[in-house]
Amino acid sequence: MQLFLDTTDTAVLRELAATGLVDGVTTNPSLIMKSGRPMLEVIAEICGIVEGPVSAEVAAVGSEAMIAEGLRLAEVAPNVVVKAPMTPDGLIATREFARRGINVNVTLCFSANQAMLAAKAGAAYISPFIGRLDDTGVDGMELINEIRTVYDNYDFDTEILAASIRTTEHVRRAAIIGADCATIPPAIFRELFKHPLTDKGLEQFLSDWAKTGQSIL
Ligand code: E4P
Repeated sequence: MQLFLDTTDTAVLRELAATGLVDGVTTNPSLIMKSGRPMLEVIAEICGIVEGPVSAEVAAVGSEAMIAEGLRLAEVAPNVVVKAPMTPDGLIATREFARRGINVNVTLCFSANQAMLAAKAGAAYISPFIGRLDDTGVDGMELINEIRTVYDNYDFDTEILAASIRTTEHVRRAAIIGADCATIPPAIFRELFKHPLTDKGLEQFLSDWAKTGQSIL
């Protein structure tokens, strides 16, 4: 499973990218706002930190304007993936980007039908929003399951990018279902490393090792 960081905080990104486990980054207009920085500048910096795909979202509503914005974003770095909303205009733009060889992440997906349309339009990634579905009382993970089935039924090669992840449990379940990627907020990414028995076991091993009085080097 490819692990992306869902962030525009470049200091945190540098720190977590040092693990070698960050395969890409996703951003959205809300995260750009949170950064307080010009979008093109922050996307360029992120693309210099990670080699993998970096999603940068268009802000226009009409397809022509989306295409113009997406082309500008794609100029920032070769690893930019243009993010377009799951709307008719977004999919017209997606088809055009795909025709030009530009990868698109179709965002704000809340149904398997939407995911099927995005795949037919040529999206490289589909972003189903798990947490936001959970917020409405619907099991967001069931959507990942349905999209996996639809994509496998028809051999779509669009990658499922589990988004709006709120818990480590979301990551675990998405991985078991077979989502291709998950985009994870930094705090949740850090939690993935942890287990209380790991801490307890390590404490015991270090304590026992100290009692041996030995040194490996
Ligand atoms: C990433 O591509 C999405 O924009 C992001 O995961 C949305 O997360 P949120 O629902 O927590 O805002």
